[in-house]
Parts: sequence; structure tokens; C-alpha cells
Amino acid sequence: MKAVRFDEYGGTDVLYVADVPVTEPAQGQVLVKVRATSINPGETKIRQGLYRAIWPATFPSGEGTDLAGVVTEIGPGVEGVAAGDEVIGFTDERASHAEYVSVPAENLAAKPANVAWEVAGSLPVAGSTAYASVRAVSVEPGDTLAVSGAAGGVGSIVVQLARRAGAEVIGIAGPANHDWLAAHGVRPVTYGEGLADRLREAGIDAFIDTYGDGYVKLAIDLGVSPERIDTIVDFAAPEEYGVKAEGSASARNAAVLAELAGQVASGDLEVPIAATFPLDDVRAAFKQLERGHTRGKIVLLP
Ligand SMILES: NC(=O)c1ccc[n+]([C@@H]2O[C@H](COP(=O)([O-])OP(=O)(O)OC[C@H]3O[C@@H](n4cnc5c(N)ncnc54)[C@H](OP(=O)(O)O)[C@@H]3O)[C@@H](O)[C@H]2O)c1
Repeated sequence: MKAVRFDEYGGTDVLYVADVPVTEPAQGQVLVKVRATSINPGETKIRQGLYRAIWPATFPSGEGTDLAGVVTEIGPGVEGVAAGDEVIGFTDERASHAEYVSVPAENLAAKPANVAWEVAGSLPVAGSTAYASVRAVSVEPGDTLAVSGAAGGVGSIVVQLARRAGAEVIGIAGPANHDWLAAHGVRPVTYGEGLADRLREAGIDAFIDTYGDGYVKLAIDLGVSPERIDTIVDFAAPEEYGVKAEGSASARNAAVLAELAGQVASGDLEVPIAATFPLDDVRAAFKQLERGHTRGKIVLLP
């Protein structure tokens, strides 16, 4: 089968598609034929070696966490999943940017029939991260929440979940994303000079930072209490400011995936798809992501 690999830390040019054996499903696992798998900025950071102290790579390395596909084989000890099932899920083995992946059955939720493959394959990391961050700041009706990176893979889901929870939402984003945000009931605000004044005027009760680069300090300076600030990027901020850093790890499970997929199926949640690429074009996919202005998700179709 085809699978993405890299043999050293580096830029997109170290990525290649290799022909490798299919990994048979072990105890508790199933084999999934991947129909769609999204790419995430964390994969860039791992490949560039930025996380080598905490999450090193072993070479040759695969990559990819998100997956949506069709179950083709059942490993020993698995019940309740059958060949032919359409599923959404995740692997913690850096392995889903491939034609097939073996994953624990407990990492899978059923894909509703009316959820498109590319949307299903985008939900696990971005959706669970958005879910965790909105839960972390406990938004309630009447609250005003500001979100940095409001139209990105995580942010575009955060703003919708927070609106559903009854909050007023201010989406910090570039001008190209303002119409999309407004159409989803979010008040768009441009980043850059004067942002602090624009936010002060609005009055902020809670802040979700999906971008980093000083947004946590800005929220603190605006008087938002630390327990109502969540960052998914600035990992020094909890120690420095007492804020939260709830991300994917605290909500990446089948129950959350089923809930989010249900919201997509019922039309209550939109996951914008910026682009899809064949697996062979993995370098181009990451080049686009690394420009840093994606609306929603970029997806590989193996
Ligand atoms: N902790 C976790 O569990 C976890 C999980 C997933 C992701 N992450 C991290 O969270 C970050 C976001 O991930 P993602 O998948 O949402 O990334 P993404 O899809 O690339 O989105 C990033 C967004 O940031 C916006 N942006 C660019 N410059 C900005 C600025 N100066 N101020 C505010 N927004 C700006 C861009 O939109 P514009 O066009 O509007 O500029 C873009 O939509 C990444 O660093 C990723 O590694 C962490």
C-alpha cells in the first residue's frame, strides 16, 4: 500500500509516498481502508523537529492521526464492528496518511451516511480540540468569547460550538474570512494593530487561543480571568498565567466523535474544506497548510 514517510526532520521536501506492507490488525484492532485523512499543523511541527524533545520521531516515520474509511478486516477480540462499516476515527501511531491503517476499534465512531468523506476525515483532531477548548472555558448564554485563528481548522469548529452553547462570539481572523464568520453568527474582528482596543470595546468574558504569539497575554491584559482562557498552542502559558491548555488529548474519543459527526449530519456544524489532494500530493497539501491562512481543513484522499 501507499503511505507517507519521512526519513529525517525537515521541510515538505522530506515527505515521500512509499510502498509499504499493510499492518495487520492486532488484538482489539480493525483494518480500515482510508477514504479521507486530514492534515494538521502538529504534523508539520513534528516533521520539522520542533517537538523532538517531547514527541520525537523514529525514522522512517509515518504520519497522520485523522481518518475516515471503510473497515476491511477485523482483528482478534473485536466485537460490534464489521467489515464494510463506514467509520471515523484516529490513530496515535502516526499512520493514517496511508491507504490502510490498523486502529483500535475503540477509536472509531460510525460515519453518518450523509457526512462527506473529507469532512469525516477532518473531524477527529480539529473537532476534539475545539470541543475540549469550548468545554474548558465553560461558555454560557450571555458570555462573550473571543477566538484567535477563528476560521482555521480548530477555530472554525470552536466558533460554531460556542454559538450553539449560547455565547456571543468574536472571531479574530483575516479579512478573507470575515464573510464566512458573519454567516455563522460570529462577529469578525481583524488582527493586527488596534486589536486590543477593538476587543476591549466588545467586553470579553472568555478567550480561546488557537494561534499563540501573545494572545494569552492579551486576554489577561483585557481582564479575562485565567480559568476562562484556553490555549491550544502556547504551552508555556499555563505556568506563566494560570490559564488552561485543554486540547485534543482530553476529548479525542469515540463518544465525542459521534456527537460531532451527529451535529454535522443534522446540519448544525459545518466543517469547511479548503482543499483536497491525492495522497501523492502530500507535499503540496502541507505547503498550502504552512502558508498559515487555511479556512477549515485540508484533506488527503488516498
Ligand atoms: N493542543 C492541541 O491539542 C492542538 C490540536 C490541534 C491543533 N493545535 C495547534 O493549534 C494551532 C491551530 O491549528 P489549526 O489546525 O486550526 O491551524 P490552521 O487550520 O492552520 O489555522 C490557523 C489559522 O490562524 C489564522 N491566523 C493567521 N495569522 C493570524 C493572526 N495573526 N492572528 C489570528 N489568527 C491568525 C489563519 O487565518 P486567517 O486567514 O484568518 O489569517 C488560519 O485560519 C496550530 O498551532 C496547531 O498545531 C493544537
